[in-house]
Amino acid sequence: MDDKLIEQINEKTPIVDLVSEFVSLSKRGKNYMGLCPFHQEKTPSFSVSPEKNIAKCMSCGEGGTPINFYRKIKNLSFEEAAQELAIRAGIEIKTEKIIKDPNKHFHQLMNEVTSFYQFNLKNSEKGLEAIKYLYGRQMTDELMTHFRIGYAPTHGQTLYNVLKDKGYAVSDMISLGVVKQSDDGDYYDLFSDRIIFPITNPKGDVAGLSGRTMNPKETVKYINSPETVIFKKGQLLYHFYEALPEIRKSKQVVLYEGFFDVISSYAAGIKHGVATMGTALTKEQTKLIKSVTQSMIVAYDGDSAGLKAADHAIPMLEKEGLKVEILMIPEKMDPDDFIKSYGPEQFEMLFGEYTKDAYQFRYDYYKTGLNLANANDMKSFRGKVMDMIRNSDASIKAFYTQKLSLDLGIPLSEFDFRKETTRKEPVIPKIEKPKMLNKYERAERSLIFEMMKSKAVCSKVMKVLKPTDFADHITASIRIDIERYYYDHQVFDMNDFLDGLTAEHRAYVEQILLKDMYWVNQLSIDETDIQDYVEIVKLANVKRRLEEIQSHINQIQVVSQTLIEERDRLQGILKEKH
Ligand code: CTP
Ligand code: MN
Repeated sequence: MDDKLIEQINEKTPIVDLVSEFVSLSKRGKNYMGLCPFHQEKTPSFSVSPEKNIAKCMSCGEGGTPINFYRKIKNLSFEEAAQELAIRAGIEIKTEKIIKDPNKHFHQLMNEVTSFYQFNLKNSEKGLEAIKYLYGRQMTDELMTHFRIGYAPTHGQTLYNVLKDKGYAVSDMISLGVVKQSDDGDYYDLFSDRIIFPITNPKGDVAGLSGRTMNPKETVKYINSPETVIFKKGQLLYHFYEALPEIRKSKQVVLYEGFFDVISSYAAGIKHGVATMGTALTKEQTKLIKSVTQSMIVAYDGDSAGLKAADHAIPMLEKEGLKVEILMIPEKMDPDDFIKSYGPEQFEMLFGEYTKDAYQFRYDYYKTGLNLANANDMKSFRGKVMDMIRNSDASIKAFYTQKLSLDLGIPLSEFDFRKETTRKEPVIPKIEKPKMLNKYERAERSLIFEMMKSKAVCSKVMKVLKPTDFADHITASIRIDIERYYYDHQVFDMNDFLDGLTAEHRAYVEQILLKDMYWVNQLSIDETDIQDYVEIVKLANVKRRLEEIQSHINQIQVVSQTLIEERDRLQGILKEKH
């Protein structure tokens, strides 16, 4: 997609209309304001300028042109967002320019499989038995529709035949794992006599399936689609796509361990639940959550495995900058059991009264089952708590060392981090004082900010300016850091980026660049601004080179003057002798 087209799509998409689909706006002078959909806030700082046709959060900096806003809020790639907005605006895109989902036929097939299983649930004798089982677990028809629940018939080739009749390639069925080939070459369905839960990707396409047995004697409770090109369990969350509107509304995600927890919670009115699928939470899943909200509740099972999993997930979630609370389910139940036993109102009450923040949770968790009079237990508990608060702020440290001191009966003065830790504090270099920047320095820094915000700008700058074109050496090396970051990341994540920097670079970005009020206050920059900055940097180079050359010439002139004088002197000597 070329710049002209992108510009045209942005121009033809009125920003106020677009943003209003997601945020309620009120007019303030020339602009509109609303609560930022990208971070949690109580007073509106999301500003929409119809004049400039951009939207931007004055507080978190998220937003931008219509395409950028849409891309972020819908979780799309830049091209996908541009394409969708082009269609809305009635702009034609030449077919060869339309990016195709290379796995489209796979998703089509999976959607077909899902529909077939859904049909089977309602239209077969065994399907009706499955419905009875689901009714027994307090599921309603409405829920079955929302979660697209299905039934896979007993043994055989029913699905295989249906798909073949519809013209799907056997190789695709096998690649997606819904059909398998036996040793004697026959094809048969993966799922047999199981209730089917489809799992969608963040765009809403079915990526994989999970089948639950209804037979209590069957040893394998769930069978899942194998990992395929489109089904990577560690990168997906059950019900994420379906929950997106509710997540946006409540600005929160509830994370469960099982399908039935998500479904029962949904039925109980807590509709922004998602679940991992039998594996530990991954970094990718954490990032997926972070892409839509800042705040989450971990509602894992109340048994020891659930507590352990929560303890394991917390550091990862916090590292992504998520505000985490843990829902404590009593009596070692899972959320589904709890709702069955105590009802939806009690479940909702848990959210008010039985949540702990991540510190409280871990403190209590580390303490359970220990005998604090036993020296080994005492030592291990103390170590875990000290590790937990090591990098926290002073008030947290004070609060938990106080608590430790009371619980262990040890004077507070015994808790000293210098004694506890063997880690060396990193040496943070001295940082320049804030100063007024000249327009060349300003242009370099502005380019740095824009490169951070967009991979496209980054590639553009890479093309037109050599790293050595930046006059300020530290800005130049940060620039290289950004280019490297984008080399294996699509989207810029500040925390992640900072983690990869040297202490010096990190301090510079945190203490100088990110505190730059000029940039923080800047609403948005457009294409021509970027070109201007590039021009300014280039001009600065021309100026620098000219100065360099002039100084060379000056030196050469001085040298040649000296040489001329010496030549004349020597020639004079020769003349005298003859
Ligand atoms: N799981 C799995 N394979 C299994 C067991 C579990 O893939 N053999 C995954 C499923 O995604 C399941 C989740 O792990 O939803 C949590 O497991 P569990 O708590 O045992 O299942 P529930 O969803 O609670 O199912 P149920 O209430 O029907 O026992
Ligand atoms: Mn369960």
